Amino acid sequence: MECTQPDSRDKLRVLFVDDEPNVLHGLRLALRHMRDAWQMSFAGSGSEALDILAREPHDVVVSDMRMPGMDGDRLLAEVQRRFPDTLRIILSGYSDYAMIMRTVKPAHQFLSKPCSHEDLTRTVNRALRLRAVLCNPRIKGLLGAIGSLPSLPEVFAALREEMDKPEPSLQRIGGMVSQDMGMTASVLKLVNSSFFGLRRHIATPRQAVVLLGLETVRGLLLLSELFRQFTLAPELGCSTDLLWRHCTGVGRFSRAIAAAEGLSAAEQDDCFIAGLLHDVGKLVLLAHMPGEYGAALARVREGGATVHDAEREVFGASHAEMGAYLLALWGLPDAVVESVYRHHAPLCGTEDTACVAAVHAANALHHELVVLTPGRAPRPADNDWLAACGLEGRMTAWREACAAVLATQEPET
Ligand SMILES: [Fe+2]
Ligand SMILES: [Fe+2]
Repeated sequence: MECTQPDSRDKLRVLFVDDEPNVLHGLRLALRHMRDAWQMSFAGSGSEALDILAREPHDVVVSDMRMPGMDGDRLLAEVQRRFPDTLRIILSGYSDYAMIMRTVKPAHQFLSKPCSHEDLTRTVNRALRLRAVLCNPRIKGLLGAIGSLPSLPEVFAALREEMDKPEPSLQRIGGMVSQDMGMTASVLKLVNSSFFGLRRHIATPRQAVVLLGLETVRGLLLLSELFRQFTLAPELGCSTDLLWRHCTGVGRFSRAIAAAEGLSAAEQDDCFIAGLLHDVGKLVLLAHMPGEYGAALARVREGGATVHDAEREVFGASHAEMGAYLLALWGLPDAVVESVYRHHAPLCGTEDTACVAAVHAANALHHELVVLTPGRAPRPADNDWLAACGLEGRMTAWREACAAVLATQEPET
């Protein structure tokens, strides 16, 4: 069943669960201003919450973690089983995001206590925006077959916490990145390669952050960690090395296109990260289900199907959907999630059209300008879609911007 979007005339139904009456009372008061948009229910225990849900379906459940009888973890697991379309948010007194997301697997999002009502409102609304990704029924089926997903690298979450502080410290950030030797080594290797075309040698993560910006370094850390976790079977004909070169290349192309469109520095960062991570779903599928992926690739070779369609036939979901699900779960920015979700099947009229277009075109241009797998049919950008978004005629400028990126890069050996 497709995830149902709440009727626009209906209020969103949000259920709060906490064993502390004072907390529920505080929420009732603090969220009074949301009464026009949300219909709120309050439960003092897990079993009361399940009774409420059985009587009336809710769009979102926000649950405390530690509760007598049934804790938040068990409650959300039960909600996941019985009401799979309900978005699940955990509220916890612990601030260690990575630890919580590891232990509370059935949660979609995480909020740390004490949490301001602005944060709470933002997180609920954000989770609802990502509903199409997080409640994708095809992904749910596939997740059952995969079993476990990679968890967000701890350093990534720690860096986010540091960045959210009023005065983030470069010293602390450099220290956090340096703690993980393997990750540091792979990021430094990348920033010192021809990839960035920097004229000076970068010796420490701190220098990398100063020169490239924290968002860029975070994106590279996440990508290198994911590639470190997975090694692909060589017989699949899609090597880890080629996929890495494609992902990093699309990251750079996406940023170049975003810059050519005059997007802000923050938007360019989102495009870069979305480009870097656009095919992480492929990595997950290839690593977890190599046999089935081989069958999907055979369909592409034999029948001329696109990878996207062959994956949907074999797995029920595409790598774009799989990757976006992971990134949404990890709390990456909406524009990044949306662009990864739509990089093969773009859609007009969303808030993030500019970023979606940059990643969609960057992927097509990378296949065109950097032929990593000779003989594979080209995957041109969707010109009808570009025209519908008023972006027709931009491909020439984008191709030039991407060619300029390649010109700054030494030929790879
Ligand atoms: Fe892709
Ligand atoms: Fe791609």
